[in-house]
This record gives sequence, structure tokens and C-alpha cells, in this order.
Amino acid sequence: QRLVWLDCDPGHDDAMAILLAGYSPDRVKLLGVSTVHGNQSVDKVTLNALACLRAYGMLSSQQQQQQQQQQQRHLVVVKGSSKPLVRPAVHCAEIHGESGLDNREGRPLFPLDDRAGLEAHLDQSGKCVNVMHDHIASAESRVALVATGALTNVALLLLVYPELADRIDVVLMGGAYGLGNTGPVAEFNMQIDPEAARVVFESGASVTMVPLEVTHTALATEEVIARIRKDGACEFRNTLCELLCFFKDTYKAYFGFEDPPLHDPCALAYVIDPGLFETEKIRVDVETGSSLSAGQTICDRHNLQKKPKNATVAYSMRVPEFWDMILSAVDRAVEE
Ligand code: BDR
Ligand code: CA
Repeated sequence: QRLVWLDCDPGHDDAMAILLAGYSPDRVKLLGVSTVHGNQSVDKVTLNALACLRAYGMLSSQQQQQQQQQQQRHLVVVKGSSKPLVRPAVHCAEIHGESGLDNREGRPLFPLDDRAGLEAHLDQSGKCVNVMHDHIASAESRVALVATGALTNVALLLLVYPELADRIDVVLMGGAYGLGNTGPVAEFNMQIDPEAARVVFESGASVTMVPLEVTHTALATEEVIARIRKDGACEFRNTLCELLCFFKDTYKAYFGFEDPPLHDPCALAYVIDPGLFETEKIRVDVETGSSLSAGQTICDRHNLQKKPKNATVAYSMRVPEFWDMILSAVDRAVEE
């Protein structure tokens, strides 16, 4: 069983990554969820993370929390950085809506009333990096730190606690070896905080990058959506379909895609079953200087620069097995 910490900015695809992390119980034990600015402000994505976790049955009552804390089974949720290391924050309402997790009526997909009740589940014991550090450093084995947003929290963690580089395997959704999405050659998570991405790639920690070339194969087709919906009688399944339909509409409007790529769960899928991926360890550098290409992940596949290899890059993923994994997480979430 792999210990996992998920750092995310929900976000429609992040929300599906949370579901996969929570309901692949035999392979993954989710220790904590931290949030980072990105798809929307950190306040909005934190509320979304909490609302998802509640809708998925992953938040416990206060009484359960006390018992679980004693048994070290409690899921930690902590709010992270509100802005990139050096640049102003950039959000992505055109893809994820004003709330960061809208439905097609322009309202939050998961109810956000009872904000105080949701926020009561946040860990307030310290700054995000300190909370992450304490849980990762005391974990019984190495932790897969899955990052599905900007790398600000991960960079800060590795800057403040460089010794953690030996305790974590960073698995990130982001980057590209060819074309970008929000920049001609830059992918959004890298583009919004390139300096943080550079810190992570140069940290010496084990880094696996699941780039756009792979996530663009994880298309939520009509067939996938129909499998999730089943007979249409389950409200929870219908809500997940609404999530995918919103994402489908914005991807169509913004990029002209027929079906939306479900980026973030691909990074989780790598942790659950790396055998689904074809990978290679190569040199990856992050462009931080140029205004044209900041955030570009420069993948030196032929080792032309003769620099040490620092990242495992995924080239492909077995997509049918990926969807089976998602579908069984949905089944489990419905059953439990
Ligand atoms: C990434 O950008 C975000 O909008 C998505 O959640 C994903 O993490 C894809 O470029
Ligand atoms: Ca994301």
C-alpha cells in the first residue's frame, strides 16, 4: 500500500483525482490533502476540496476525528499558498468557472453553504508546509506527493525541509515535451509558477512528470460518461457526470476538443499502477527567463546537454485500464 499526499487546486479534474485517491483503498492510503492557488483563488479551491471530500464521504464527524487522530487514521486537509513564489497569481475561470468547480448552470457543483462547517475540517495547527512536513516525516514509509496544481507548496516544502527529498516521490501532473495548453509551449500548472517548478525539478527528489501528451489521451468520451451514469438513478453518479459535462463544454469552447482530457487523475493512476505507463528517466529543465515560454518543461531526451537525469517522464498510458480504475473508484464510492 502506497502512502499518498495530494496537493491540488480543485478544479474539475482535481476533484476526480480526489475521488480516485479516496476510493482505491487497497493500493493507496491517503494521508492528507493540501490546496494551492491555481484554477481559482486558494480560498475557493480549498472550499471546493472540502465540499468534494464531504460529498465523497471522506470527511469525518468531529467525534470520529478524535478517534481517528488517536489511531492516526484521520485525513488531514490544509490550506496552502495563495500565490506563486515570485509572480502574481493567475486563475483559470474560463475552464473551471467562477467557483473553480462550477456546474453548467454557473453554480458551484457541490453545495458550498455551511462554509463554517466545511472550514471546521481544516487543519489549523500550523502553516501548510509545516503540517505537510510533520505528517510526511513521521509516516511509516516513503510518501508519494502527488501534485495536480502549481508546484508552489511542493517547492516551499523542499526549500524549508530539503531533507524531505529523500522521503518523498513527487508525481506531478504538468508540463509537456511538445505543445502547451495555456501557453504555446507551457502547460498551466508549470506556467503559473515556473520558479516553483524549477525548484522541484532541481531539488534532488525523485520526480515523475505526467505531461499533457499523456493526459490528452485520457478523454472522458460519451461512452465513459454513460458508464459512470449507469441507469441514471443515482444522484451521486449524475453529479460526477455533470462535472464531466461542464468540463466537456469548456474544453469545447476554449480548445475545440470534442471530449475533455481528465488530466489530474492520471498522476494518481501512476502511483496506483505504474505498470500502465511507458516512461523514461531524462533531463528536464524549466524555462523561467523568457516571457514567451516561461513554464516550458524542456525535455532533453537525447541528453544533448550532458546534464544529470532528474525526472521520469511518462510517454504513454494504457487508457482502457485507466478508465476501469476510475469506474471502480466510482463504484466503491457509491457502495460505501
Ligand atoms: C492542469 O491545469 C488545470 O486547469 C487542471 O486542473 C490540470 O491540473 C492541466 O493543464
Ligand atoms: Ca489541477
